[in-house]
Amino acid sequence: MSFIIEMLNITKDFPGIRANDNVTLQVEKGSIHALLGENGAGKSTLMSILFGLYEPDAGSIRVRGEPVIINNPNIATQLGIGMVHQHFKLVHNFTVTENIILGLEPRQGLSIDIKKASLKVAELSKLYSLDVDPFSKIEDISVGMHQRVEILKMLYRDAEILIFDEPTAVLTPQEIHELMAVMRRLVEEGKTILLITHKLKEIKAVADICTVLRRGKLINTVEVKNTDEAAMAEMMVGREVSFSVDKSPAKPGEVVLEIEKLNVKNSKGLLAVKDLSLSVKKGEILGLCGIDGNGQTELIQALTGLTKIESGSVKILGKEVASLPVRQRLDMGLGHIPEDRHRHGLVLDFRLDENLVMHSYGHLPYAHYGVLDFYAIRKNAERLIKEFDVRAGQGPDTLARSMSGGNQQKAILAREIDRSPEAFIIAQPTRGLDVGAIEYIHKRIVAERDKNKAILLVSLELDEILNVSDRIAVIYDGMIVGIVDTDKTDEYELGLMMSGSLRKAV
Ligand SMILES: Nc1ncnc2c1ncn2[C@@H]1O[C@H](COP(=O)(O)OP(=O)(O)O)[C@@H](O)[C@H]1O
Ligand SMILES: [Mg+2]
Repeated sequence: MSFIIEMLNITKDFPGIRANDNVTLQVEKGSIHALLGENGAGKSTLMSILFGLYEPDAGSIRVRGEPVIINNPNIATQLGIGMVHQHFKLVHNFTVTENIILGLEPRQGLSIDIKKASLKVAELSKLYSLDVDPFSKIEDISVGMHQRVEILKMLYRDAEILIFDEPTAVLTPQEIHELMAVMRRLVEEGKTILLITHKLKEIKAVADICTVLRRGKLINTVEVKNTDEAAMAEMMVGREVSFSVDKSPAKPGEVVLEIEKLNVKNSKGLLAVKDLSLSVKKGEILGLCGIDGNGQTELIQALTGLTKIESGSVKILGKEVASLPVRQRLDMGLGHIPEDRHRHGLVLDFRLDENLVMHSYGHLPYAHYGVLDFYAIRKNAERLIKEFDVRAGQGPDTLARSMSGGNQQKAILAREIDRSPEAFIIAQPTRGLDVGAIEYIHKRIVAERDKNKAILLVSLELDEILNVSDRIAVIYDGMIVGIVDTDKTDEYELGLMMSGSLRKAV
């Protein structure tokens, strides 16, 4: 057996935390090797060590059997190791080719280099069926394409060992499917892949070997074909995990959120939500599913007051709110768990305690006559951190930016649930989170329903919609094309509605 990569007994400390604790990882040439673990398990740290971004405090690395010291990314590149990071690093007003050659030797006149480079990019794109146009500008192509540009960047530098850090977190189901095919193609051409993920389905679909980390420690390395999702989940979380959500049938009451003939334009000035009507009752979760880009984002923004509406009505408990500003809607009983945690959910450079009073800091008990009461703000944070199991290294003082995605999401959930709104707009609540956090968040959403709140759950994850919702509405091209009871439908029927080929009585 030949290992192309061996990381032996690696330990890495950060202030206050051992991110990797005596971890050994051996990767066979030509395999897809998954690195599985919850948020904060130490996956990115281990791969950053391999890529030369951090130096380990203890342990050694061998590449192709040779002992190496990788103390910067250039050395990793020379060794044929490439990494696609969680957040892409592309220059938006540059072309694909310009981005790919950025940082490489600009020896000849730039124009000649670019011509040659774009030919090579086109060739690589063809070889791996990436379908990337070397001359497109980054700002004009999709997120899925951005990722392919990052892949090409590695291939252009002749990388043989490709590290993908949570590559599917930013992709649609369709794009995920395509990425899996690209990975298989890469391996066929002799590459080796290290795939960081916490999605078990993806590991089952594409990986050969899986190494599980938990809280910095190596738990096990297993052959994927000899294990199942439940076993991997248990290794990852350290206990049994339930994939289905425990809930009793809904007992819906009066209508809380009523949307009538709503029309909303998108940023290009085109109608994105068309004559849309929906109502959500007390004590029910209405799931809204659809393929990304069918008006979901515009609908959420219009409901929460982030975008103005063209026409139509939005009522909370019978009161019209369509023309009210965000804050007044919140005060009238609207809660919002936003789609984009970073843009609308948290202020990343603020502390956790400040983020936890973001919507209520103007009121008692957090302010008296306009003066903030830091003691009350801190007490509030301590209470919510405990109740919602938010893991933050420095407690209330932790900067939001330094928290993991799952814990940022728990913080938003804590803040919004604690305000106890009557109607909740919850968008993509578990995007990019691990199974443990997903399970927790689903439970809390159902618990809010059982406190008689009205919940509109917008998600691109069909599994999530089917597991959590009581009724499901399907949006296609800005319109509701069907509303069905969850126990009377399935993935197949929803898929047909989502693609616009089936309508069911609305
Ligand atoms: N640069 C850093 N400084 C301090 N702590 C860090 C740093 N990078 C990661 N950590 C901490 O190390 C632990 C492991 O993080 P990480 O490797 O990013 O986990 P994963 O990728 O599995 O989510 C976490 O507790 C994280 O907060
Ligand atoms: Mg990570």
